[in-house]
Amino acid sequence: MDIILLGPPGAGKGTQASRLEQERGMVQLSTGDMLRAAVKEGSPVGLQAKAVMDAGELVSDAIVSGIIGERLDKLAPGTGAIFDGYPRTVAQTESLDEILAERGRSLDYVIELKVDEEALVDRIVGRFTCAKCGAGYHDKYNLPKVEGTCDVCGSQEFKRRPDDNAETVRTRMAEYRAKTAPILPIYEARGLVRRVDGMGEIDAVTQEIKAILDEKG
Ligand code: AP5
Ligand code: ZN
Repeated sequence: MDIILLGPPGAGKGTQASRLEQERGMVQLSTGDMLRAAVKEGSPVGLQAKAVMDAGELVSDAIVSGIIGERLDKLAPGTGAIFDGYPRTVAQTESLDEILAERGRSLDYVIELKVDEEALVDRIVGRFTCAKCGAGYHDKYNLPKVEGTCDVCGSQEFKRRPDDNAETVRTRMAEYRAKTAPILPIYEARGLVRRVDGMGEIDAVTQEIKAILDEKG
């Protein structure tokens, strides 16, 4: 089963994708994570992407569609993909159609996380992740069970994203409204969109998504 998690910055795409990964054996394909890894490595893609990401703007369609195709080819046969942060433009939806068709795959659902924009700045500015395993946390909503220690790997080092400041978040939201929201009608016309209340507790959101996935058994 292949699904897209769609929603503005801070909607909870990454949080929910990593839960589905753990509970359903699907694989999270986050273009944001892939680009951040490329920046860290200092690869040619990373060098091109860094300034664009730090400004909160979108990296070129060709770069992200290229990395998604490569990553999909590495999945073990029969593994479902969770697209997190991709596609983000109408051109990317067209690329994804081709990428999936070439591999004999197709989309089962586009799950839209509906959220209240005012809450998003708070969610993003409070976000931090484990520096070792990448597990995601929040200063108010999702603290590690033992203070200062990652629940997943026990590391005591955490980090914050350079684009997680109030000013850049506003640019990221404007990009979402202008370039990403227009992809919804495309998937609506195909009957693939399901809406989930992204303002609920993290667990409640996961339950709602799992109930949708269970519709197909
Ligand atoms: P990307 O990494 O995709 O960032 P984003 O879309 O801005 O999304 P976020 O990661 O900020 O939010 P999220 O929805 O995953 O929320 P999370 O689960 O962490 O992209 C970064 C940049 O890369 C882009 O700006 C662009 O430059 C580039 N890029 C990436 N993909 C691209 C593409 N396809 N095309 C072009 N450019 C691309 O949750 C946020 C916080 O809230 C966390 O702390 C979490 O603990 C907390 N939280 C989550 N759910 C809840 C809840 N229900 N209640 C309370 N708190 C919650
Ligand atoms: Zn960890």
